[in-house]
Amino acid sequence: MQHDMTSHEIRKKWNHRHSQADGIGEPAKVLIENLHLLPQSGSILDLACGRGGNALYLAEKTRLSIDAWDISDVAVNRVESEAKIRGLSVNTQVRDISLSPPKPNSFNAIVTTHFLDRALAPALIDALCLGGLLFYQTFTQTAVGSGGPSNPKICLGEGELLKLFQHLRLRVYREEGALGDVKRGWRNLAMLVAEKV
Ligand SMILES: C[S@@+](CC[C@H](N)C(=O)[O-])C[C@H]1O[C@@H](n2cnc3c(N)ncnc32)[C@H](O)[C@@H]1O
Repeated sequence: MQHDMTSHEIRKKWNHRHSQADGIGEPAKVLIENLHLLPQSGSILDLACGRGGNALYLAEKTRLSIDAWDISDVAVNRVESEAKIRGLSVNTQVRDISLSPPKPNSFNAIVTTHFLDRALAPALIDALCLGGLLFYQTFTQTAVGSGGPSNPKICLGEGELLKLFQHLRLRVYREEGALGDVKRGWRNLAMLVAEKV
């Protein structure tokens, strides 16, 4: 994704953004709409967790063991302090996931939202245990209206999540592009839930 930048530069950039932002961020639709697909027990990783919208939602709604990793220590500190305030348990790590991806067979589910490192796709598949689920949601190059990243390289091409994760069994996919009445629907993003079989 950002191979032209060092870890240090990426951290600096995101620390700045997170320190300017309020709150923890909303949980992603891919998680809210498909929460019922998660197992009753096991582990889930919120990869590139930001300020913890997904991880804290999972901690509130499930009994899973939750890990949340991000390169930004500002973001990770925010997740930790919010978890403490709410009395929730989240295992956090400040980690460059492009340099140190999760180990093979280490999670029952992985969620990653609004983050795209195409080169990580094989490591994410490896990191899932058999039967594990990947929840992915991020921006598409086809966008209606403004918002989302201005750099198309960090946005998905048409059907790209389907290609990146073609070796997983597809369970949910949504990408509306610019079809029909663009004032309605769920736009500028694609979501996928897929299972390792
Ligand atoms: C747009 S934010 C998304 C945060 C959260 N997933 C969400 O949907 O609200 C992208 C996140 O990716 C993190 N990030 C970028 N590069 C990373 C890397 N190499 N390793 C770990 N985290 C990274 C940033 O610090 C930032 O928190």
